[in-house]
Amino acid sequence: MRRGGRWLLVSFSMLAFAAGCAGNQSALSPGGVQASRIYNLWQVFAWVTAAVYVLTMAWVIIAFTRRPRHREEPVSPLDDKPLTSPDPRSEARGQAVVWGLITVTTVILFGLLVGDFYTGRQIHTLPNEGNELSVKIIGHQWWWEVQYEDATASNFVTTANELHIPVGTPVGIKLDAADVIHSFWVPNLNGKKDMVPGHPTMTWIRADKPGTYVGQCAEFCGLEHAKMRFTVIAEPRDQYDAWIAAHRQTPPPPTDSIAQRGQQVFLSSSCVMCHNIQGTPAKSRLGPDLTDIGGRKTIGAGWLPNTPENMGEWISHTQDVKPGVRMPPTTMPADDLHALVTYLESLK
Ligand code: CUA
Repeated sequence: MRRGGRWLLVSFSMLAFAAGCAGNQSALSPGGVQASRIYNLWQVFAWVTAAVYVLTMAWVIIAFTRRPRHREEPVSPLDDKPLTSPDPRSEARGQAVVWGLITVTTVILFGLLVGDFYTGRQIHTLPNEGNELSVKIIGHQWWWEVQYEDATASNFVTTANELHIPVGTPVGIKLDAADVIHSFWVPNLNGKKDMVPGHPTMTWIRADKPGTYVGQCAEFCGLEHAKMRFTVIAEPRDQYDAWIAAHRQTPPPPTDSIAQRGQQVFLSSSCVMCHNIQGTPAKSRLGPDLTDIGGRKTIGAGWLPNTPENMGEWISHTQDVKPGVRMPPTTMPADDLHALVTYLESLK
């Protein structure tokens, strides 16, 4: 292959790779104002460092291929070989080049540092327009507790592993951790922010494009760190308002006979030791709140698509699906499992 063809292939592969990175969990596909600022900074870093790399490699190739120029010196009386020594003018020129490049490098690095600092300050807060939303997110091994706060305590809504936000509204997210250090990261919306137990902190996000974005714990927190994911659903304001209003209501008891039986299975099994379902005697907060589990896109903290098959598999084989997870597998007759899954999937 000719050299030009090879370069074209390499450039094309890199472009394809970069395009593959852009998706619903990618810092290269910003869905909000802060992620756009991080993306712009990334562009500056990528292009500047690429240009420096190309120039440096070109210089190295020139240095290796150029024939050295020496001045013939008089033959030493003790030796019959001619002495060679560098030309003092080219020595001085070489020194000037080295000092010049050290200066350029320092200026470039300082420029990148200033850009980084400036972006860091920009993404730290969002302009407070008085319409912001406050959500508290607590990291657990290995799931996310999500609490929508409100001036009225009875309007608080608790859910898990899924965050609904209205498009164009700044969302202040209070972060904390229940056990070990986790890190909150939705690459399409903002940079990561560590969650340290006992040290509440805060971050802001604002989605400017509706869509579903995938978040990820970004700090190693134990065996299932990689399977500690969550979903952010950015929707138009009226859809969000309808969602939160529906979630402030206590859900009605199931009407379907299989789901009714499933509720009995739930309440008479060990499920109630860890989970809460509004409107039932299940009130524990050790594990994720299940009040709207049937309406969520995923189960197992963003790990499996929420289908009845996956739900059955999850309940009966938690340790195979997510080894080490705090939830023990629960064995029960197939009929009971079917009823339980039907009940859970009916909770929207
Ligand atoms: Cu939580 Cu890693």
